[in-house]
Amino acid sequence: MDLALQGKKALVTGGTRGVGRGVVLALARAGVDVVTCYQRESDYVASLEAELKETGGDHAVVRADLTEPSDVAGLLEQVKDRHGRLDLLVNNAGAISHIPYAELPLEEFQRIFTTNVTGAHLVIQNALPLLGAGSSVVSIGSRAVEAGIPLRAHYTATKAALVGLNRSLAKEFGPKGIRFNVIALGVIETENFHALPEEQRTLMAERYGAKTALGRLGTPDEVAGAVLWLASDLSRYVTGNVIGVDGGIS
Ligand SMILES: NC(=O)c1ccc[n+]([C@@H]2O[C@H](COP(=O)([O-])OP(=O)(O)OC[C@H]3O[C@@H](n4cnc5c(N)ncnc54)[C@H](OP(=O)(O)O)[C@@H]3O)[C@@H](O)[C@H]2O)c1
Repeated sequence: MDLALQGKKALVTGGTRGVGRGVVLALARAGVDVVTCYQRESDYVASLEAELKETGGDHAVVRADLTEPSDVAGLLEQVKDRHGRLDLLVNNAGAISHIPYAELPLEEFQRIFTTNVTGAHLVIQNALPLLGAGSSVVSIGSRAVEAGIPLRAHYTATKAALVGLNRSLAKEFGPKGIRFNVIALGVIETENFHALPEEQRTLMAERYGAKTALGRLGTPDEVAGAVLWLASDLSRYVTGNVIGVDGGIS
């Protein structure tokens, strides 16, 4: 199906691995020119660059740590110089940790908030001059907000904060024709999942798969499907919403 995305310009944060990588590659395959960023050098950077080169289009993979305001400003400068505008912004980069709440150090609480909330805020604010009527902002959230997860209270709180940010920005920028939505994920298989020992991987797939209506975990490509829809004109009356891509998890 042609979603008429050819030539659109996108920024996807955290696109070297996991969900973000699936989104970047799906957008590139649909004809979108994509800038993405990462925090640390790794083999994933070169392999993504190689895959994007094969796909064709005008793409860039840039090092920018979203916890550093100057890095965020520099990232959006590069987007402006390269593409001049943004039709789609995907706030995907995120950090997580598993720590009992009673023992959670303030520094770790702040690290997760700085990455997941302040980072997304800085990216959106710096992107505003490049976003115009018809553009779409998508933030990657989590179904953990409704479910609640032990040892991840700090992470869950950041994803809840994104929902409030999203809803308010949808109202503030709706009159300008800019749409804001959250995609709330269930459990998605990424490189981190595949790196787990086989026994743990099987246990996780069974435990979380059993909680879903579809009986399995999701893939980055399946998240990308929802992003493509939110980037397209098909979703032009959808804003301020939280859309679950979770296999019907409960
Ligand atoms: N996977 C799931 O099951 C799941 C479920 C619910 C929600 N989510 C959400 O989906 C998003 C992606 O998750 P994922 O599992 O794909 O994560 P991941 O595999 O850990 O990948 C995270 C990506 O974000 C980048 N990143 C992290 N911190 C950054 C920073 N400060 N500045 C710039 N880039 C940064 C990483 O770059 P480096 O390689 O440089 O570290 C990497 O490219 C997150 O927002 C996460 O909370 C995931």
